[in-house]
Amino acid sequence: MYYIGVDLGTSAVKLLLMAHDGKIENIVSKEYPLYFPQPGWSEQKPEDWYSQVMAGIKELIKDVDKSQIAGISFGGQMHGLVILDENDNVIRPAILWNDGRTTKECDYLNNVIGKEKLSAYTANISFTGFTAPKILWVKNNEPENFAKICKIMLPKDYIAYKLSGVHCTDVSDASGMLIFDVKNRCWSKEMCEICGINESQLAKIYESYETVGTVLPEIAKELGIPESCKVVAGAGDNAAAAVGTCTVGDGSCNISLGTSGTIFISSKNFGVDKFNALHAFAHADGHYHLMGCMLSAASCNKWWMDEIIGTKDYAEEQKKIEKLGENHVYFLPYLMGERSPINDPLARGTFIGLTMDSTRADMTQAVLEGVAFALRDSFEVAKALGIEIKRTKICGGGAKSPLWKKMIANILNVKVDVIESEEGPALGGAMLAAVANGEFESVEAAAEKIVKIVDTIEPEPELVKKYEERYEQYRAIYPACKELFQKIQ
Ligand code: XUL
Repeated sequence: MYYIGVDLGTSAVKLLLMAHDGKIENIVSKEYPLYFPQPGWSEQKPEDWYSQVMAGIKELIKDVDKSQIAGISFGGQMHGLVILDENDNVIRPAILWNDGRTTKECDYLNNVIGKEKLSAYTANISFTGFTAPKILWVKNNEPENFAKICKIMLPKDYIAYKLSGVHCTDVSDASGMLIFDVKNRCWSKEMCEICGINESQLAKIYESYETVGTVLPEIAKELGIPESCKVVAGAGDNAAAAVGTCTVGDGSCNISLGTSGTIFISSKNFGVDKFNALHAFAHADGHYHLMGCMLSAASCNKWWMDEIIGTKDYAEEQKKIEKLGENHVYFLPYLMGERSPINDPLARGTFIGLTMDSTRADMTQAVLEGVAFALRDSFEVAKALGIEIKRTKICGGGAKSPLWKKMIANILNVKVDVIESEEGPALGGAMLAAVANGEFESVEAAAEKIVKIVDTIEPEPELVKKYEERYEQYRAIYPACKELFQKIQ
């Protein structure tokens, strides 16, 4: 049997074909456009996702026995608002997880409704990227669109709907909507009322490893796969990445260096961050997790390499970096504002500390280090909650860089376990489909069987000390710029 994992990302969809024993048979990637209609806004067309998913699946399975395709599941970019009308047409482009337009709505939710109530209803407070403030934004700014809403869904759930005809979501992705009661794994009636929506507009909730249905006959025909092929709920991309890196059960950590950067800490028990900096979400393994999310991580390096320096050879640029822990240039990675832990959509990217002898390599180094320092900010919140993290897995595009992994090990002072495949969410999605089909008895059992650690990067005491001093300097920069960021909008 074969299982398809669909990682519906922000710059592309990655599709992975996994055999029943966990062996990766093929990987295909298909890009789609990302629109920034105004500074700080971020949108995509759900129709683009769907056409690229279909094209990608066809390419993915072209050389295998298609009658053996037994399940499809997902890891999807979280929080995006997809709205459909009564004829199932997409009403407007999806508003994505890194969109910062909802400052007013967040102020209303956090300060008028109040953080305490939000936290009691959902275990979280409002951040601009979350779904509830976007629903309120559509209500306040596009009332004619709001009136047409029949179905509200998240990005990967739109694909599941197109494939199976079932309006479904899973607990991990629903957690990021701020309409979901994370502790009790059900919709919050209070939040529906606050957003002016009915529960009937929301999807049916599943655990990530549960089957929602089978592919529609026309989909089976178009792809050449059996009508019995299961569509499995799947997870938000971070929870799916956690499955794909064996970050399950209690106290495991995964860092994802994708367009966003996240620190994901799995937990068997429900818990809320009393500082409201880390998200408290349900996990795809049936339990819970805490997560810090920065809005621009590997995307900072991509921006610096592609747009500013003008190269595609990232490894070559990184070869010129020699003086770890001694760079006098700093970079704040807030190219889309920032979520965890500072929650400031008006924060902006900044280089600071340049002198006449600063080189291109120093600036490249500052970008990589700036992302690692910003991850450490969330890591510090976890420490303040009493969570001890001694080692972490790592995945995402940025994890392909040995230098970046070394910086992270030394800036966070943790062991970084390198796994055989960095395909976090796509692999996690395929694994969830395999669990639903009975190949493994649980998500944890699948992860333990499939995920293999091939190397460990140990922090080096000398370098840890140097970076400790530099982090102290780094963390003084944002508070000094905060007011200025508000003035220069
Ligand atoms: C998590 C988040 C991002 C997106 C990226 O809260 O917003 O990691 O899921 O796809």
